[in-house]
Amino acid sequence: MRRCFRPLLRGHDRLWLGEDLIEVSKRYGLAGELKIYADPFPPSKRSYPLVLEEAISKLKEHELSPYLEELTHVASKVDAKLYLVGGALRDILIGGCVYRELDLLLEGDLERFLESAKKCKFSLKELTPFLTLKLVKDGKVFDIALGRKEIYERAGALPKVFPAKLYEDLQRRDFTINAMALGLSEGIKGLLFDPFYGLDDIKRGILRLIKPYAFIEDPTRIIRGIRLKVRFSLNFEDRTLDLMKKAIDKGALLWVGWVRIWKELEELFKEDEYLNGIVLMEDLGCWQSIGVKLSKLDMEVLDRLKGEKFLSQENRKEFLLFTIFGSEAHKHPRDWGLRFQLPKRLREDLSLAPLWRELKSLSFENRYRKFLRASQNLVKFWSICLEEDLFSLWKAYREARPILSQEEMENIASLKGKEYGRIKIEVLRLQLEEGLRSKDDILERLRKESV
Ligand code: CTP
Repeated sequence: MRRCFRPLLRGHDRLWLGEDLIEVSKRYGLAGELKIYADPFPPSKRSYPLVLEEAISKLKEHELSPYLEELTHVASKVDAKLYLVGGALRDILIGGCVYRELDLLLEGDLERFLESAKKCKFSLKELTPFLTLKLVKDGKVFDIALGRKEIYERAGALPKVFPAKLYEDLQRRDFTINAMALGLSEGIKGLLFDPFYGLDDIKRGILRLIKPYAFIEDPTRIIRGIRLKVRFSLNFEDRTLDLMKKAIDKGALLWVGWVRIWKELEELFKEDEYLNGIVLMEDLGCWQSIGVKLSKLDMEVLDRLKGEKFLSQENRKEFLLFTIFGSEAHKHPRDWGLRFQLPKRLREDLSLAPLWRELKSLSFENRYRKFLRASQNLVKFWSICLEEDLFSLWKAYREARPILSQEEMENIASLKGKEYGRIKIEVLRLQLEEGLRSKDDILERLRKESV
């Protein structure tokens, strides 16, 4: 028997407890709980589609609707079927419109579909081993995935992917509200395939897993779940919440690579209700489970951030990163920057973040150098922590040029037997801190001082 984490479903609703699962369960301390993950969610699957013409009308309002018509035509030529799936369909059913990209699912022969698409001037931009592709026409990009099933070789790993039928594709997903498909092709147009009663859960405002081990096979779904909950003001169904807490307590978030954790956090931070998400993560013990402690001060800073006008969705993630992972030196912000594989500039900012506490007590030279290294966002973060606007100071430091020429400063340096750099910093200090404006005043002070 292959040793892999392979939660096979027998008769679609029962977890197959093979040796491999038992082995992995032991490794992650789940051995005593196998029954929990084997116990399917009621109700059993709905096997008939619902007629949902209004979803098609909503989709018609979408700017890409004419291209969708074309793509269904492309698919029908090779006896393939297209469905709208995932987040886009969920968004239509909850909010009446699509907020993100349209995710399409293809049931049929991929090669033949691609040939047919090329004839209709769609070009292939990307084809991944995960059986997903991007087609482009008139500069518009279409994400299409072949119906597929996944096998997780170990908990928290990325899955191996195989072609599969629609039902199996929906079954590999996380929450019932994400596991629906809307038929787009002739013959299935306007039919909603909703085997796990996602539409009913939307109506009840409930977020429910489609299978009990969904958090175990991919613990990033814990953060995804929190994100969806706060985005749509949903309630976790009791057992889902229980399974989520169990997975968190087991430290499941640590089974996933840090980069994937950061990706999920970035998505959470983009939400309008990001603060509720951060607080919920705290209440559920997520932060603690990945080794982060949110202090009272962090919560105050997060609260202050709420009112800041400059805080756009774009730059918000940096402030949240600084607060959660860099507000104090003992959080080891440099390590988080490396774990999350952040870009160099952001890593540098993050490691400077805790400096806000000592900024005032630093020597001029030290402070000046730190300010030159800091980005505008970091200086704003320091300002929020200190409740004092440091922006003008930062601007003044960056724009300041010594009033003395290089030659003059070199002369003074050689007269005093000092380095040129020291003299230059002192000149800047006299200008910026003491407000001296004329060359003569500065020369006079330099003569008197033992720099
Ligand atoms: N999915 C999953 N487990 C994950 C990520 C995604 O089961 N860890 C499934 C969900 O069914 C999801 C679909 O894959 O609807 C597409 O994923 P993605 O595009 O990342 O998310 P959406 O839900 O489509 O959109 P959003 O980013 O708005 O959440």
